[in-house]
Amino acid sequence: MKQPYLIQFNSTLSSKPGILCFAETPKEIPFPISRIYWIFGVDHRVTRGNHAHKKGEQVMIALHGKVTVELENKKGECFTFLLDKGSEGLFVPGNYWRKVTLEKDTVLLSITSTVYDSDNYIRDYREFKGNEL
Ligand code: TYD
Repeated sequence: MKQPYLIQFNSTLSSKPGILCFAETPKEIPFPISRIYWIFGVDHRVTRGNHAHKKGEQVMIALHGKVTVELENKKGECFTFLLDKGSEGLFVPGNYWRKVTLEKDTVLLSITSTVYDSDNYIRDYREFKGNEL
């Protein structure tokens, strides 16, 4: 089973203001990219997610602000990551239950290996853990 891990992106050294980071596939993004989406306009702390994806991989980047990502796989292994640097990403494999907490004003970018498909979601935690009634 694949495990989540942090990715350090390369950035340019420049006398200009601002930091330019970049990522390429398959180097830092270890899958062909099918979709990107982003969340902004967070006017107060919120926990999103509470679901798993049956298949597909993802890299999450907090472009601004702070995100806590809690992940659990079917074996019960749990991981918690704090994303608060634009130079860092989180690789999330498929089949992890996720809770994603965004602090106020956070901007979160997600890069994914699959197009959106509502049938790819497991939204029932007991079903995810394989012990639905
Ligand atoms: P969802 O994945 O449930 O996001 P979160 O867990 O952060 O709330 O998606 C929320 C809604 O947005 C849902 O109705 C589906 C829609 N959506 C798309 O249409 N395309 C996408 O790529 C994504 C990620 C979501």
